[in-house]
Amino acid sequence: MAGRVEGKVAFITGAARSQGRSHALRLAQEGADIIAVDLCGPVPSIGMYPPATEEDLAETVRQVEALDRRIVATQADVRDSAAMRKAVDDGVAELGRLDIVLANAGVFEIHPALELEDDAWREMIDINLTGVWNTCKVTLPHLVDGGRGGAVVLTSSTAGLKGVPNTVHYTAAKHGVVGIMRTLANEFAEHSIRVNSVHPTGVDTVMIQNEKTWGLFAPDDPAPTREKAEPIFRSTNALPVPWVEPVDISNAILFLVSDEARYITGVTLPVDAGFTIK
Ligand SMILES: NC(=O)c1ccc[n+]([C@@H]2O[C@H](COP(=O)([O-])OP(=O)(O)OC[C@H]3O[C@@H](n4cnc5c(N)ncnc54)[C@H](O)[C@@H]3O)[C@@H](O)[C@H]2O)c1
Repeated sequence: MAGRVEGKVAFITGAARSQGRSHALRLAQEGADIIAVDLCGPVPSIGMYPPATEEDLAETVRQVEALDRRIVATQADVRDSAAMRKAVDDGVAELGRLDIVLANAGVFEIHPALELEDDAWREMIDINLTGVWNTCKVTLPHLVDGGRGGAVVLTSSTAGLKGVPNTVHYTAAKHGVVGIMRTLANEFAEHSIRVNSVHPTGVDTVMIQNEKTWGLFAPDDPAPTREKAEPIFRSTNALPVPWVEPVDISNAILFLVSDEARYITGVTLPVDAGFTIK
């Protein structure tokens, strides 16, 4: 049976690990080839969890190739539009086309609003907002030129739909992603290019599985742990789960980029276990 994205090519940022790797594998399982980009390195203002590495990106390559799909992987920063343009141009030259774009790369950090340093604000906006725009800017010409339409999914967050305390820079950037999505959905509809955003609740990755995030909900606990954080995370979702798995986001994205969603555009899709209705 043909896969749900058979013969298509997907460009994915932040593909070295976690959700980005999961998206690459899920789309590859359904027949897509992959153009993968990741910073594979530290960001000065992000200190509460370790950065992805070149070995992580190499592991994504290994796992996609194990599915008998092709992958072109580049170490590049979403803030660097020239490097991003080269990554997508090289990938399209090698794989022959572009159909799907996933702007997934992002960073997270916790600061009470008035303790947020200027540099931390700037780095967050540069990566989580401008980086998403750069991803769209360098890939949309390929989708238009291909003449076959296309599907773009921007990874926002529940923090793109609700105000989340202690994350003003992250929450502002993730709301901004919705503005990019709605504008481009209108502007590129005439080319049959659909643009949507996904809004995960907590996802079981290093971004939330770290001591500072566990401690966010239990500020008086000197030694927060995953086990102690679990019931608190669970209480934020309507469904009785503390967080979701990367593949839950991948499955929602797979639906959005497949022909099953051919008339869905401009939508903010929560994959949030009911976080935003609670
Ligand atoms: N984990 C969660 O609870 C959660 C919830 C809602 C939304 N999100 C969003 O999901 C996306 C993926 O996060 P994750 O949970 O997989 O975390 P993660 O940190 O494991 O993955 C993010 C990836 O993006 C890459 N990246 C960061 N800055 C980059 C840059 N400047 N250029 C290129 N690549 C860069 C990282 O190297 C990393 O591989 C992010 O946009 C995040 O904001 C995460």
